[in-house]
Amino acid sequence: QRFFASRSELAGKTVIVTAGGTVERLDPVRFLTNDSSGKMGFAFAEAAANRGADVTLIAGRTTAPPIDGVKLVRVESAEQMLHAVLERYDAADLVIKAAAVADYRPVEQAPTKIKKSEEKLVLELERTTDILKTLGERKTHQFLVGFAAETERVAEYAMSKLVRKNCDLLVANDVSREGAGFNVDTNVVQLYGKEGLLESLPQLPKREVAERVLERIVQRMRDKAA
Ligand code: CTP
Ligand code: CA
Repeated sequence: QRFFASRSELAGKTVIVTAGGTVERLDPVRFLTNDSSGKMGFAFAEAAANRGADVTLIAGRTTAPPIDGVKLVRVESAEQMLHAVLERYDAADLVIKAAAVADYRPVEQAPTKIKKSEEKLVLELERTTDILKTLGERKTHQFLVGFAAETERVAEYAMSKLVRKNCDLLVANDVSREGAGFNVDTNVVQLYGKEGLLESLPQLPKREVAERVLERIVQRMRDKAA
């Protein structure tokens, strides 16, 4: 276990971190989800708390254990995550949207277990609300950090997400690379700002990635306030 000295750069700041995969139910015993472990988001929450912030972690499905000193709010669906974040948005100084939010959910949720019948079953899905985009539209004073999980054309997609969702910083990761993305303990990320690529980090443990990204966030929050 690496030792991270506690610091106070985020003392007095309220931080929201979302983490993990959302769960979109089909019926009481079945759901759609993704491979997110939540580790990246949990690492951010821990690193922010370590810098003196008041941190609320809004988590979907994860394998990561709760963190001392961080308020944990459990949610299932994208819709529940949206409401949990919006409720706390006005009071937040910094929002880090590391969650892997489902893009689609079943149009219908059966109240009882779906029984098998035909040889083929077609599921009808509808788009979920884009939480990050909603936050971007409603942004007043908050510093908004988005993520982009890509397997190709990383820079191009990352910049378009940053602009479309009105983020202050975007953390891109190429999830097709070994040692990056879902369900591993390390990540390889690039940081983008409005002006383009800011920094390319090497492969690092997620906790270390969180430290390096938070350093950049703190610096940019200061610049923004100045
Ligand atoms: N996001 C969100 N709400 C959604 C979908 C995504 O808040 N319904 C957020 C994620 O938490 C992440 C960012 O948007 O911070 C980018 O997610 P990503 O899946 O990479 O991008 P999408 O905009 O969903 O585009 P696509 O999946 O088509 O690449
Ligand atoms: Ca998506």
